[in-house]
Amino acid sequence: MTTAVLPKIRELKPGFGAEIEGVDIRTADDATLDGVVATFHRHGAILLRDQSPTPPDLMRFIGRFGEAEDHTLVENTLPGFPKIYILSNRVDENGKPIGAHNDGIGWHTDYSYKAEPVMATMLYAVETPPEGADTLLADCCKAWNALPPERRAELDGKIVHHSWRHFMATREYNRMEDPPEDLLRDNPDVFHPLVRTHPADGRKALFPSTGTVKGVVGMSDEEGVALVEDLVAFATREAFVFRHKWRAGDVLMWDNRCTLHTGTLYDDTRYFRLMHRLWVKGDKPY
Ligand code: SIN
Repeated sequence: MTTAVLPKIRELKPGFGAEIEGVDIRTADDATLDGVVATFHRHGAILLRDQSPTPPDLMRFIGRFGEAEDHTLVENTLPGFPKIYILSNRVDENGKPIGAHNDGIGWHTDYSYKAEPVMATMLYAVETPPEGADTLLADCCKAWNALPPERRAELDGKIVHHSWRHFMATREYNRMEDPPEDLLRDNPDVFHPLVRTHPADGRKALFPSTGTVKGVVGMSDEEGVALVEDLVAFATREAFVFRHKWRAGDVLMWDNRCTLHTGTLYDDTRYFRLMHRLWVKGDKPY
């Protein structure tokens, strides 16, 4: 298969991420879209600006990367599009929230409470506040490579305990003390390596998170959580982080196998935000 040479690529941060210019995801041909996918795998994140996809366009585009993943809280999905999750502070005509508000605040990797966490996350900005609500991406390969060899040797092979129940009971926003039984049954605790290998080329990345982390195997829960928090603090130093300032029409996608991300707050008493979030299924970390 021939892969298009993309018109213009600009790194989001030296060695990480790529802004792709001159591609309309609704109308691009197959070779160009193959090039977009290849750029994503090579750079860990991609940004395409000035897009105006409909929900079916978003579904087609995400399908280029793999199979779209489901969402745990289906009540926040776009009616008729169960794979499109809404992040918003808007409410409908009855005053009911149309999606999840402040859902991704705190450094994390998506679906870390699943045996097969999502490979990629895509956000499409429908409406953005003029200030705040930036999304931050941390390059966890660069962070891993920056650790001294002896520290890497200590960390490689450690296993992290993740728990959806713990996450829902302790998160700052959208806390759920007593989740429904069916959701608890569908989301049992899982264990993932602290250092992950990228299946595309074998590069290694720190794979910590916050929220879902209950401990590290072989350590007390307090010590384990403290170790993971330390590594999150390290991986999210400014040197490793790209800050995205949103404009309506932006499509930002990142590879959860080698990044951490967080949303940031905004003045929700003055502004509205509306984002569509889609996930691509992933595989078991190793
Ligand atoms: C997320 O973590 O899924 C969303 C991040 C954001 O809203 O900026």
